[in-house]
Amino acid sequence: MKEEKQLKVSAIKNGTVIDHIPSGNLFKVVEILSLNRCKSQLTLGNNLESKRLGTKAIIKVADRFFADDEMNRIALVAPQAKFNIIKGYEVMEKRTVELPDAIVGIAKCINPMCVTNHQPIPTKFNVISKKDVLLQCCYCDKINDQEHLVIITKRSIEALN
Ligand code: CTP
Ligand code: ZN
Repeated sequence: MKEEKQLKVSAIKNGTVIDHIPSGNLFKVVEILSLNRCKSQLTLGNNLESKRLGTKAIIKVADRFFADDEMNRIALVAPQAKFNIIKGYEVMEKRTVELPDAIVGIAKCINPMCVTNHQPIPTKFNVISKKDVLLQCCYCDKINDQEHLVIITKRSIEALN
């Protein structure tokens, strides 16, 4: 039988392919990169087969290239993500992501008593473990782990203001 080699999501000519996103976190990546407001061609694939992750999600954004700090923010929800820079249909570069030492905004503090949940101040965390994604709130010292991480949506920021 002929081996099936078709791409599940069609190739792009120029832009960025974000690959190896855990299936459950596709929409968190969309949120963090504000792709809901993206005007260029955007294709999403979810629950695709992956040898490494079991299932994975993929995002393809035409004509869009991300800055290092934007890519690194994704490490919060997709530490194994790879950013493939595509030019003329070729993969020119593959970038892995690394959590920064501190995170401002993006995630909520899980401590209901934390001042950031009551006043319109941006959250701030020190990353105390990059491997296990452990964030310590700079305001209340609560340690937030990846499993309980709640991403701040644009809507919830508006609600605070
Ligand atoms: N891709 C694409 N459009 C292109 C070239 C590549 O959408 N013009 C996608 C591929 O479908 C793949 C990703 O970009 O999802 C990376 O491509 P490639 O490096 O060729 O695939 P792999 O070797 O499978 O990547 P990895 O080793 O990172 O899993
Ligand atoms: Zn806190």
